[in-house]
Amino acid sequence: MKKLIVGNFKMNTTVQEFSNYLDKFLPDVKSLKNGIVLCVPYTHLMLANQKLVATNVLFGSQNISTEENGAYTGEVSSIMVKSLGATYTIVGHSERRKLFRETDEQINQKIKMALGVNLKVILCVGETKFEHNNNKTKLVIKRELEIALKGLYENELKNIVIAYEPVWAIGTGKTPSTKEIENVVDYIKNVVAEIFSQKSAEKLCILYGGSVDENNCANILKIEGVGGLLVGGSCLSPDKFVNIIK
Ligand code: PGA
Repeated sequence: MKKLIVGNFKMNTTVQEFSNYLDKFLPDVKSLKNGIVLCVPYTHLMLANQKLVATNVLFGSQNISTEENGAYTGEVSSIMVKSLGATYTIVGHSERRKLFRETDEQINQKIKMALGVNLKVILCVGETKFEHNNNKTKLVIKRELEIALKGLYENELKNIVIAYEPVWAIGTGKTPSTKEIENVVDYIKNVVAEIFSQKSAEKLCILYGGSVDENNCANILKIEGVGGLLVGGSCLSPDKFVNIIK
C-alpha cells in the first residue's frame, strides 16, 4: 500500500542549500509511488512552491501561529503558509512543546487555524523518556489527542495525519520495539474512535517518527497500522532520504 513519507528539515539548510538538495532529490524520486512531503523552514516555502510545482513532491511548514493576523511579531499565520502553495503543516512537534513551551490548548488552536485555510495537519504526539519509563505512554497520548482534537468536526479528521513520535526516540538513534509501536498506533486509533467513531479511526493515517533511518525504515513500515514515516535527521541527505522513500 502507498505510504506517506514526510521529511522534517527542522532548522537546517540555507535557501541555496535547499535548492541544491532539490536538484539532486527530485529526479531520484520522480517515479516513486509513495506520498512525499518536505516540511521546510518558512524561508524556504517560496522556493519549494517554485520548484515543486508539477512534481510528485508536496511541501509544508513545521509550525504555524495560533493567530490569524495582527501584532504578533515574528509569527507566521496559516494563510501565509497556504498562500505559498503548502499542503501540510506540522503541529505540536515535541521540540515546539518542550523548547517553546507550546501547550495542548495552543496546539488545538493551531490545528483549527490550519484546517480553516485547508492546510492538512501532521499532529505529533508522544511520550518523554520519563513518561515511557513510568508506563505513562497511553495517558500522555490520550491527553494530547483529546485536547488537540477538541471541537473539531468528524469530517475534518480526513485532513489530519497523526505522527507517533516518542520524544526519547527523536535524534537519539533509539527506537521502540515493533510491538511497542504497534500497540501505540492501535491505541491512537482507539482514542480517536472514542472521540469520533470507529469508521473515522480506521481511515486515519498514522506515521511513526523518531530515529528513522535507511536500516530500520522497512521494518517499521511493515508494522500493522503504520501508514508512513516522519523523518528528521535522515531526510537531510538526499541519498539517504531517497533510499528510505524507496
Ligand atoms: P529524527 O527526528 O528522525 O532526527 O529522530 C524526527 C522528528 O523529530 O520528526
